[in-house]
Amino acid sequence: MQTVKVDLGQRSYNIFVGEGILSAAGDLLKRAGIKGKLAVVTNSTVAQLYLDPVHDALQSSGFEVIPILIPDGEEYKTLSTLSTIFDRLISERFERQSCLVALGGGVVGDIAGFAAATYLRGMPFVQIPTTLLAQVDSSVGGKTGVNHSRGKNLIGAFYQPRAVIIDVALLSSLPRRELVAGLAEVIKYGIIEDPVLFGGLEEKLDRILVLDRRLLTEVIATSCAIKARVIEKDEREDDHRAVLNFGHTVGHALEAATHYRKYLHGEAVAIGMAKAAAISYQQGFCDAKTLGRIIKLIKMAGLSTEIPQEVSTQSLIEGMELDKKSADGKVKFVVCTAIGKTCFHLLTAEQIAAALGK
Ligand SMILES: NC(=O)c1ccc[n+]([C@@H]2O[C@H](COP(=O)([O-])OP(=O)(O)OC[C@H]3O[C@@H](n4cnc5c(N)ncnc54)[C@H](O)[C@@H]3O)[C@@H](O)[C@H]2O)c1
Ligand SMILES: [Zn+2]
Repeated sequence: MQTVKVDLGQRSYNIFVGEGILSAAGDLLKRAGIKGKLAVVTNSTVAQLYLDPVHDALQSSGFEVIPILIPDGEEYKTLSTLSTIFDRLISERFERQSCLVALGGGVVGDIAGFAAATYLRGMPFVQIPTTLLAQVDSSVGGKTGVNHSRGKNLIGAFYQPRAVIIDVALLSSLPRRELVAGLAEVIKYGIIEDPVLFGGLEEKLDRILVLDRRLLTEVIATSCAIKARVIEKDEREDDHRAVLNFGHTVGHALEAATHYRKYLHGEAVAIGMAKAAAISYQQGFCDAKTLGRIIKLIKMAGLSTEIPQEVSTQSLIEGMELDKKSADGKVKFVVCTAIGKTCFHLLTAEQIAAALGK
């Protein structure tokens, strides 16, 4: 098992990464100082696969466990689902010393985290992420929230977990499309911060795709450590944390332009990263070799690098303007200057769209 510390003063916590560590979840919670009764928030799909083992692992360490099930799907990441979680917490008499455990992908993690942030003005919570995206991204860093009919993640809070327990064995049941989409975020960490991670992916991607667990543990722990270091510098995205948005300006626009139906998040981000790399090259920030390596690795993962013809420039511009990261009419666009190095470049949505050649 590898342990990655997120150093945020009083809000510090450990991320535990390993194979089969779900069975030690109770002990790991105790190590994190969790004492009270536990609400395990999960969805119907993940519950069928993993609720029993999680329940047993926690109960055998002496915890009282109350499962709270929500339906599966991004469309349920809403205030109304949140309200059903509060109803259960209240009827089961959860207190401030109790703990909420999020067992699932990013949807469960975001909504359960927000429930924990706001129930009785905050109760301890622990993440047990079950998708690759959640293991390398959404479970770390403390962004929690729900969607509003007018936009994604519009309601939320920064609220850090007390621990993150990542069992790479859980990825064996994940649909391949979800796994590959999660890989886009891993590739992103290599591009923005870590040439060694990037080089390792170039060499060993095939082994990751067949779920070599030792390699997965290494790659996931490295990804979490990179995110942890970024968050330690800038927890609330006042400045530096925005490097994590590499590929996301165009990625988010593409998701919005296709009404969140065509792409999984990571698939849109993969295209966004290919375009961000192309813009970095066009504007003289990086060389052709860097661009070539990025495009090649994204394709090796089985991800697309092209925006489909039918997506109009206008819809992409509208998507970029919708993105809450735009400031003063300009987007803080993340360009790469080499593998592992980035800088910010202010561009208007029109300039970005023009550079896409759309
Ligand atoms: N908080 C953050 O910093 C942050 C960062 C990135 C994304 N997000 C959010 O994360 C969400 C996307 O997360 P996601 O990609 O994990 O999607 P998801 O939570 O919808 O999970 C994808 C699908 O996989 C299923 N699943 C989960 N684990 C499984 C397993 N081990 N085996 C089989 N099936 C499994 C889920 O039930 C679901 O159907 C979005 O709402 C996004 O806004 C948050
Ligand atoms: Zn992302």
